[in-house]
Amino acid sequence: MDMEKVNSMDFGEFVDVFGNVVERCPLIAAAVWSQRPFSNSEDLEKHFFAFIDALPQSGQEGILRCHPDLAGRELQQGTLTAESRREQGGAGLMSLDAAERLRLAELNAQYRARFGFPFVLAARLSDRAAVPGELARRLQRPPAEELRTALGEVKKIGRLRLADLLGAAGLAGP
Ligand code: GUN
Repeated sequence: MDMEKVNSMDFGEFVDVFGNVVERCPLIAAAVWSQRPFSNSEDLEKHFFAFIDALPQSGQEGILRCHPDLAGRELQQGTLTAESRREQGGAGLMSLDAAERLRLAELNAQYRARFGFPFVLAARLSDRAAVPGELARRLQRPPAEELRTALGEVKKIGRLRLADLLGAAGLAGP
């Protein structure tokens, strides 16, 4: 999809296409639409990220709270978004054995209790073997640092989702 096409989208189409760049936060796409035209995909990405950065802490935590747990209840119940299902499936989180599922459920619960939001990780850049260790490591971190890390993961997820929608060519760099 090229930028001319993106810039020509009406509000409804834009939100339909980009509404889940940030998991279950179509409001962000709705706000970004008002910033048209975008010069390229990096510019579009910049607007998504700037919206996140400009939110007060309560809004940033709200974004994190819109994410489902990794390998959690929504995965079992089949209620994940298509994007989250693909990402978690790709990381092997749909084929955990019972012991692995239990271990992740315990860690997810500890993380939520400590920070007040779910553990978010760009699952496509990880895998089932690495997730529990990363979760246990991040559980030890100071809350302010962890909020920054978690929002960084939201941006990594968003960058990959945008690349899926636009074609990877236009998106580069961290
Ligand atoms: N990483 C990629 N997608 C997701 C998601 O839907 N939830 C969480 N917690 N992490 C993710």
